[in-house]
Amino acid sequence: MNRDYIAKHWYASVYEQFENQTHDVDFLLKVLTEQTGNQPLNILEVACGGGRICVPLAMANHFVTGFDADEHMLLRCYRRMEGLQNIRCYQADAATSGWGVDFDVVVMAGNILINIESKMDYKEAQKSLIKKASEALRTGGHLYMDFDLHYNPTDRFNSLQESSYFKGTDELGTTGCTVTYGSVYDPITQICTGTGHWELITNSGEQIIMPKCWYKHIPTLTQVYDWLSDAGFTIERTYQNYTAEPILKPIVEATSRAIIWAKKACIICASSARIFI
Ligand SMILES: C[S@@+](CC[C@H](N)C(=O)[O-])C[C@H]1O[C@@H](n2cnc3c(N)ncnc32)[C@H](O)[C@@H]1O
Repeated sequence: MNRDYIAKHWYASVYEQFENQTHDVDFLLKVLTEQTGNQPLNILEVACGGGRICVPLAMANHFVTGFDADEHMLLRCYRRMEGLQNIRCYQADAATSGWGVDFDVVVMAGNILINIESKMDYKEAQKSLIKKASEALRTGGHLYMDFDLHYNPTDRFNSLQESSYFKGTDELGTTGCTVTYGSVYDPITQICTGTGHWELITNSGEQIIMPKCWYKHIPTLTQVYDWLSDAGFTIERTYQNYTAEPILKPIVEATSRAIIWAKKACIICASSARIFI
């Protein structure tokens, strides 16, 4: 048996079983209705995974394109989109591929800003996601971002203790859990590094241990706002923790999730505004 195949299949399945602690999809649909009315939009979802977000968008009558690097996630998406004519999903790396052009809305949800996997410098990869979102939008189009915002990353990530995040059984009968032994955060580089493994037992009783090391750049709100501005976006609305409350600056301890609705400015308008200021 291909152990890598078994492990990635298991992860894609348990991710979906556990990623239901918030009403993030309902919230996105509500924001789209509030901000754009009920007309069908041409939407791109970056890193669409198993279709948890892009399929409900298609079911709400939008024209949806999604892509993801992970074929196991994507296969789940293909199954979910069966029978829907207004959705197209494909495999691509967000860091290295072109995203297309002229979308009304680009959705970067499911915390992709903090979960991007690429060979690039992490901070550069995050900035480039925002720049690519701008390039994929028509002028006047919008970016919807939904990501973890950490009030105190030092407290959150400097922790050395064993814990398990995902646990469960997939459709192949593989059962197991993810285990982490903690992480370390460097406040100067804003890089957080963690270590752990997945421990799995297949349907035929074989044990699989997959070592896992992870590495992320944890941006501040100011950094994200600067990246948006550099990419030509104007922030129109912010929401914290899936409520109507805007994100306060400086952020408060209760803020854990940031949702940003930003408009791609007309390039001529933006440059003439600069001239007349
Ligand atoms: C936390 S999951 C979110 C999936 C989906 N958006 C959701 O909310 O259910 C992160 C996804 O990002 C994808 N991903 C990570 N890095 C990527 C990259 N460089 N290009 C494309 N997809 C990527 C992973 O394969 C995974 O499906």
